[in-house]
Amino acid sequence: MRLEQKVVIVTGGGRGIGAAICQAFANEGAHVVVADINEENAKGVAEKIGGQAMGVALDVRSPDGAAAMAKSVFDKFGRIDVLMNNAGARVIKGLMQHTQEDWQQMLDINLTGPFICSQAVLPQMMNQKSGNIINVASIASFMGRPNRVAYVAAKSGVLGLTRAMAADLSGKNIRVNAIAPGMVASPFNQSFAEAEDTGPAWASENLIGRWGQPEDIAGAAIFLASDESSFINGSEIKVEGGWLAARSRSGEEPIWDE
Ligand SMILES: NC(=O)c1ccc[n+]([C@@H]2O[C@H](COP(=O)([O-])OP(=O)(O)OC[C@H]3O[C@@H](n4cnc5c(N)ncnc54)[C@H](O)[C@@H]3O)[C@@H](O)[C@H]2O)c1
Repeated sequence: MRLEQKVVIVTGGGRGIGAAICQAFANEGAHVVVADINEENAKGVAEKIGGQAMGVALDVRSPDGAAAMAKSVFDKFGRIDVLMNNAGARVIKGLMQHTQEDWQQMLDINLTGPFICSQAVLPQMMNQKSGNIINVASIASFMGRPNRVAYVAAKSGVLGLTRAMAADLSGKNIRVNAIAPGMVASPFNQSFAEAEDTGPAWASENLIGRWGQPEDIAGAAIFLASDESSFINGSEIKVEGGWLAARSRSGEEPIWDE
């Protein structure tokens, strides 16, 4: 088991990718803290995992809430090894339809949230002289996508946050990396995955030819959380079936037969 006795916090762990990562971390021997704005879901995931797993209510936008969560984790387990900043949300609207409130909410949840939660756990990580922070970015961190201006801006910022925090934490034995998922059929994207047009069409746009499942993100999360990745820092892993590598000009297909 690669995360034996590690204490890991997963924000947004109440469903989707976060819930799959919580289960995968627990399967690797970790003590999992499922933190979500939806307390019922957080507790449900923790209950399903069983053992010492703990479900807590957390709004990642709240510095006081994040500090209280970090304290309760320390009180229970005596350390914090991994913070997985996974909580996220998305508004889909035209550029001019985005309100100031939409913009602020996207930045608050997707970008400021990881910053706030990191600040909440870092004093303990620095005390224990070790730690590991993993931010969840997106393919939207690398490409402009229509009707998602605030989400794309926030997720692009997550990569900058990752690099800057890694640099600030140099020499402290605390690594900061990011995972950038592609199209994953979590509740977040369920309607697109199930729709007759976008379901098959979006699946065919990556090089694997299917939608990702929440469990597909867990392998990279375990790798980055474990010592197997001990020389990876300030970096990101794309888990998107080759979506970003797949761009080609129309009419240009791979040639296989002479
Ligand atoms: N599903 C995809 O295709 C996809 C692609 C790229 C990136 N991502 C990112 O992956 C992460 C997980 O996405 P998902 O697909 O599982 O989404 P999801 O909507 O299924 O789950 C998100 C979870 O975050 C929680 N959450 C939302 N706001 C919160 C807040 N303020 N405080 C605490 N928790 C909050 C929700 O309650 C929910 O449990 C997100 O950061 C998302 O942006 C998802």
